[in-house]
Amino acid sequence: MEYNNLLVEKEGAVTTIAINRPKALNALNTEVLAELIDAFQALAKDSETRVVILTGAGEKSFVAGADITYMKDLNPLEAREFAILGQGLTSLIENLPQPVIAAVNGFALGGGCELAMSCDIRVAAENAKFGQPEVGLGVVPGFGGTQRLARLVSKGKAKELLFTADVLGAQEALEIGLADRVVPAAELKSFCLNMAQKIVSKGPVAIRLCKVAVNKGLEMDLTNALSYEAEVFSLCFATEDQKEGMNAFVEKRKADFSGK
Ligand code: CAA
Repeated sequence: MEYNNLLVEKEGAVTTIAINRPKALNALNTEVLAELIDAFQALAKDSETRVVILTGAGEKSFVAGADITYMKDLNPLEAREFAILGQGLTSLIENLPQPVIAAVNGFALGGGCELAMSCDIRVAAENAKFGQPEVGLGVVPGFGGTQRLARLVSKGKAKELLFTADVLGAQEALEIGLADRVVPAAELKSFCLNMAQKIVSKGPVAIRLCKVAVNKGLEMDLTNALSYEAEVFSLCFATEDQKEGMNAFVEKRKADFSGK
């Protein structure tokens, strides 16, 4: 599919998707959401892509939110459809088989912060700005912000950010666990590519199972989550990757994983 609002770049096993709608600071309207859903659905089936990087085109914005000009005249049923569309995208990213790194290169506000939170890891440029400013528009976040923010940072911090609509700089976001890394803006791309390459060099099946184990485990009590981990651990022993990884260690050579 040809995209009007996305730039897709493949470098070996790493695919970068840049949201490219600069006139609206990459704000998410239904067309951008539909294109992102299409692109991530394709990536889920793309066995060559082992890590995805999601970013915003330009230097100023990751995503400045859901498109306010689009939302302004929605009726409640249309608003519900819009929320379900955005939530569908964030759940698709959260459950994508491959790890997704958010390279946050500026504003990550409202739907932009929600999109970043659905990624596995958030790397923020020093100029990144995070926030859920929806209450200033008279609405609550609709793409998962009330839920993922409260799961990612403390309940009180989430409520503080949701109630005040405060916008945090990259360093503050790092301090509360909303960002995982902060790097100079000029190094954001290379830092994320290096992180992606490090992930690509490890056992692909194990990486996928780690993602599932963390995501599913956090929805369970610890006893069930540990039992789930034991099942996932045992599953690894049915893979070529486990044999290759452990044999390579014993033979003092670098593992050459097949992802099987
Ligand atoms: N929707 C639509 N257009 C947007 C937008 C958005 N979320 N954010 C920015 N734009 C547009 C602006 O309207 C402007 O367009 P024009 O040039 O045609 O006027 C253009 O992008 C550039 O923006 P600014 O001139 O405002 O740039 P700035 O540097 O002065 O300010 C900003 C940047 C602080 C991000 C400011 O644009 C802003 O506050 N944007 C809105 C942020 C926001 O409230 N996001 C949450 C949306 S609600 C949501 O996301 C709900 C949900 O959970 C689903």
